[in-house]
Amino acid sequence: MDLFETIHGHRSIRRYKPDPVGEELLTELLEAGVRASSSGNMQTYSIIVSRDRAMRERLFVPHMEQNMVLEAPVLLTFCADFRRMRKWLRINHAPDNFDDFFAFLVAAVDAILVSQNVALAAEARGLGICYMGSTLANADQVGEILELPEGVMPVVGFSLGWPAEDPTPRDRLPLTGLVHAETYQDHSDDEIRRIYRDRDQAGWDRYMSIPRLRELIEEHDVENLAQIYTVVKYTREGHANYTKNVLDYLKRQGFFKG
Ligand SMILES: Cc1cc2nc3c(=O)[nH]c(=O)nc-3n(C[C@H](O)[C@H](O)[C@H](O)COP(=O)(O)O)c2cc1C
Repeated sequence: MDLFETIHGHRSIRRYKPDPVGEELLTELLEAGVRASSSGNMQTYSIIVSRDRAMRERLFVPHMEQNMVLEAPVLLTFCADFRRMRKWLRINHAPDNFDDFFAFLVAAVDAILVSQNVALAAEARGLGICYMGSTLANADQVGEILELPEGVMPVVGFSLGWPAEDPTPRDRLPLTGLVHAETYQDHSDDEIRRIYRDRDQAGWDRYMSIPRLRELIEEHDVENLAQIYTVVKYTREGHANYTKNVLDYLKRQGFFKG
């Protein structure tokens, strides 16, 4: 498939056929993944492949009981990983400057670039993927199940398998709201309304068409899409908990000396 066709054909896939993803095919995707640019070519990431059903049943819990964890034959977790690099430094008597938060960011960027390369490679082969924010939000629990040692931190993850659904592509905000020429052009309220106009309607209609979400929306008495986002989906309390989780775990994983 042409690369642009693959990119524009993307839809997150949450329902999967039980058919396995062959080892050879998965290796092909991972080989494509690690061709991503990498800071200093240090490749400070690791990819954990979860195929085992019992393992996915354990991961189902921190992944907020999303069915795709059980349905998809493969789950990939992309981790920021300075452990391997730091071992290499140690055996070569090189100083280790990578036990800080900046190291985590460098490694996280690398991990995310690899993940998106794997995602596109998978989609080019007809597979489907869906990222799961729970990888980071519940990084501590995911990390414990995957037995991640110090220096390794889950950042992003997705389900991978053969699609059993064919969802309509979701909208994107217009480029005019996303791209700035030379310097940042802050938006007026009117511009914000224009940028979000189609999203406001499409998003509201989408949430209201899903009975479980409609019920939740009516329960919370919200009246527009923006309110759905921060009253129902991403609450202050939720964010505060996830922030604490992530910061505590980063410290435990040795990314926070500074
Ligand atoms: C970092 C990240 C985390 C996500 N987490 C979830 C998730 O936990 N559950 C889910 O169903 N979709 C998740 N998604 C998928 C988004 O909802 C989806 O990409 C977005 O709605 C746009 O839809 P599309 O991917 O079909 O174009 C996540 C996407 C990203 C990039």
